[in-house]
Amino acid sequence: MSKFPDISNLRVKLLKEINDIKSLDQLDNIRVSALGKKGAITSLLKNISSQTIEVRKDFGEQVNALKRQITDEIEICKSALQQAEITKKISQDVIDVTLPLTNTNLENGKIHPISQVTEEIIEIFSDMGFNIAEGPDIEDEHHNFNSLNIPESHPARQMVDTFYLPGKDGNSRLLRTHTSPVQIRTMMREEPPIRIIAPGRTYRSDSDQTHTPMFHQVEGLVIDQDANMGQLKWCLEEFCKAFFEVENIKMRLRPSYFPFTEPSLEVDIACQKDKNRLIVGEGSDWLEVLGSGMVHPQVLRNVNLDPSKYKGFAFGLGIDRLAMLKYGMTDLRSFFDSDLRWLRHYGFRALDIPSLSRGLSE
Ligand code: PHE
Repeated sequence: MSKFPDISNLRVKLLKEINDIKSLDQLDNIRVSALGKKGAITSLLKNISSQTIEVRKDFGEQVNALKRQITDEIEICKSALQQAEITKKISQDVIDVTLPLTNTNLENGKIHPISQVTEEIIEIFSDMGFNIAEGPDIEDEHHNFNSLNIPESHPARQMVDTFYLPGKDGNSRLLRTHTSPVQIRTMMREEPPIRIIAPGRTYRSDSDQTHTPMFHQVEGLVIDQDANMGQLKWCLEEFCKAFFEVENIKMRLRPSYFPFTEPSLEVDIACQKDKNRLIVGEGSDWLEVLGSGMVHPQVLRNVNLDPSKYKGFAFGLGIDRLAMLKYGMTDLRSFFDSDLRWLRHYGFRALDIPSLSRGLSE
């Protein structure tokens, strides 16, 4: 006969119970019945002190071993049950993506006007056969200035306040001041004919109601053997009509100066204030919307294109400005305040993706 209460029956009983378990609740009941305050194993442990000194050690060891074994078994069983529960949930969790949306939070999140307007611009130029190009926000002097015919000593360098980054002398790194360096990168990479637009962020140290240190531009570039001013004018006119969603638009081309275009022009569109609304396309006032011109022969040479063979035109639009005009926002700084009330008011519905066939901004 054993010198202390036999615990092997208890072991067999508990292991069988754990083995037969069907749910996490049942498992927890077993845990309480064995290891809880009044549980079978806990009572055995309490019992140790009533044993004689000789049996205490043996008995204690055995009960502790049983406690460890049962604890481990319960843990193993628990994670198996939890895993099975997850697997079951996943297998039953069917999402039918073809069903119409019900009660979603779609109205809570809005598309920022800048994203909307960028998409609208991309849609219009894609339709005319332009591809989308990209370049880095962190540029070097070479791409942002030198290749665009703006050498170190050129007054145009002082025309904009550039954010320089610490770096190499001679070809300092900077935050691009315009999207025009993407012209250079594209011409270095691709063979003409080239037809691209390049939307993106641009940076200048400037801040007031219509200027923020970070803003957005879209660059346009066409290089071909017979690219000409007539095509430039047509492109811009078609763009303005499509963008402002009007049948006719009165435009004015003014001579201007950019080091990388010759001749250079600035484009104004007619507008009129009607009470508090701005009517775009007609009227007696003028709004400047973009800079443009024929690509300067020196710029073509800088990217190894022969100016006697290839011609090009380029333009640069301010996205933020176009957004303000089209959607009637007056302070550019509020674009970047991340004020949810502003976004909910001026933002666009997530599933209303701009398309020419459906209407850009409906
Ligand atoms: N890069 C010019 C600017 O930021 C705009 C421009 C682009 C002008 C292309 C002419 C041609 O002001």
